[in-house]
Amino acid sequence: MNQNFTSSTVYQVYIKSFCDSNGDGIGDINGIRSKLKYIQSLGVKYIWVTPFFCSPMVDNGYDVSDYRNINPDFGTMSDCEAMISEAASLGMGFMFDMVFNHTSTQHEWFKKALTGDPEYMNYYIFRDGDENTPPADWTCSFGGPAWEYVPGLKKWYLHLFDPTQADLNWENPKVRNELKDVIRFWKAKGVKGFRFDVLNLVSKPENLDNLPAGSATRFCKDGHRIHDFIRELVIDTGIDNMITVGEMASTTLEHCIKYSQPDRHEMSMCFNFHHLKVDYKDGNKWALMPADLKVLRNLFKEWQEEMCAQGGWGAVFWCNHDQPRIVSRLGNEGKYWKHSAKMLGTFIHMLRGTPYIYQGEELGMTNAHFTRLEQYNDVEAINYYKILTSQGTSSEEALNILANRARDNGRTPMQWTSGRNAGFTEAPEPWIGIPENYSYINVESEEADPDSILNYYRKLVKLRSENKIVSDGRVKFLESGNERVFAYERSLDGKSIVVICNFSPIEERINKLAAGKVLLTNYDSGNESLENLRPYEAIVIQK
Ligand code: GLC
Ligand code: CA
Repeated sequence: MNQNFTSSTVYQVYIKSFCDSNGDGIGDINGIRSKLKYIQSLGVKYIWVTPFFCSPMVDNGYDVSDYRNINPDFGTMSDCEAMISEAASLGMGFMFDMVFNHTSTQHEWFKKALTGDPEYMNYYIFRDGDENTPPADWTCSFGGPAWEYVPGLKKWYLHLFDPTQADLNWENPKVRNELKDVIRFWKAKGVKGFRFDVLNLVSKPENLDNLPAGSATRFCKDGHRIHDFIRELVIDTGIDNMITVGEMASTTLEHCIKYSQPDRHEMSMCFNFHHLKVDYKDGNKWALMPADLKVLRNLFKEWQEEMCAQGGWGAVFWCNHDQPRIVSRLGNEGKYWKHSAKMLGTFIHMLRGTPYIYQGEELGMTNAHFTRLEQYNDVEAINYYKILTSQGTSSEEALNILANRARDNGRTPMQWTSGRNAGFTEAPEPWIGIPENYSYINVESEEADPDSILNYYRKLVKLRSENKIVSDGRVKFLESGNERVFAYERSLDGKSIVVICNFSPIEERINKLAAGKVLLTNYDSGNESLENLRPYEAIVIQK
């Protein structure tokens, strides 16, 4: 098992919004190539790039129609090969994104299934039934029913996401073998690791009929054959010594420990999302509520300490292409923009696990602040606007909810410069709007400022790569005596560091937790007492 991921940080590129090389308003592979030196300058060892395979782009590439070819909007196979080898020569490896729970309905397998070919129908999950009675009253993740009727076949097929994303039948060994071949194909191209999209949803319940109504994800998460399926995929493709991360939807701590314990030969680590639901009212993403910091802190304490005790390993992160920006969510876009962004970075990067930086997070990029429905692109946002307004929510309130919760908040173009279109594209307009704050939140200006969020993130990455306590130490949460101040200790071979983070916009008092040498802080002047923390203050102390 390859353990170098404990000291590494991963950078996530959302290709469509990273850098446009040919002026069509859409980011692409050659755009990534042109920015590899920038990514290297952050100190990261791995780059996870979101899917750029052939796709009708209903879900921006998470609806793959050909796993072995490249969407021409993003480039060619030779661009892709050059990207992989150029990264390798800069000491970085790519992690490609394998979307194996479903394919696009444009995939040739599904097209063959639609002709009634029994071999390919068995690649998907079809059930008999009359037009008015779906096999179960399930809802999909993007709103609306999870079963879609095909009149020509007089059958229903299952889709946990959009109707154009048909779920694959992992019970069929042929399907599993096809997917293994896809991994072998990219591994042979020199890819160094993989991210597996919604991996814990692939094992469906044994009997799909007559199940109660509810969210389809709820019934399909961590299914009865999931651990066997993952192990088989990993062992048969020989990726056990590579860096792998499974995206685990609505999972449990017990399962994540199993997914990531090295001797089980499943994943190197997993993503879970419980900490990003602490501002969902009654668990509903589309109902706003201020974040519950007590719940947030307890989730981190529980997951960190249990994973550590049982030899599991987690991916630690705040942001990705499915999440609003963290500085807008738990931090402050105004007076404490810099302090809060740095504090949030400190909290994540000193934890036990492999930290992920999502493009622009290292700049303190904010939510999009869209005010009109037409500004949104994401199928989920557009569906939920309709659902909310049809349920009686006013248009104004629905737009306010989207402005806080839509995935497009994290998908606006990377802000490179203060110039036109933030230096993202030469096109008259990018595919999606850019927040106005690119005038000061951008790579160019943050490179020039020694105190920038960007330069602070570089210190965080460096600390992990150089300090064994950060990469390999145990973790224990400390009682700060204040719900708004989170603190933990990392320790290794009798040495330890203490991390103290104030999640509040005001001064907070805490118990004295540590004394020693300050390794890192987001304020320029020292904090002698360590009992009064300034707004969003973060301190890392070596005891
Ligand atoms: C994952 C992806 C998300 C996508 C979904 C369906 O959650 O991160 O962007 O919509 O899976 O593939
Ligand atoms: Ca382009």
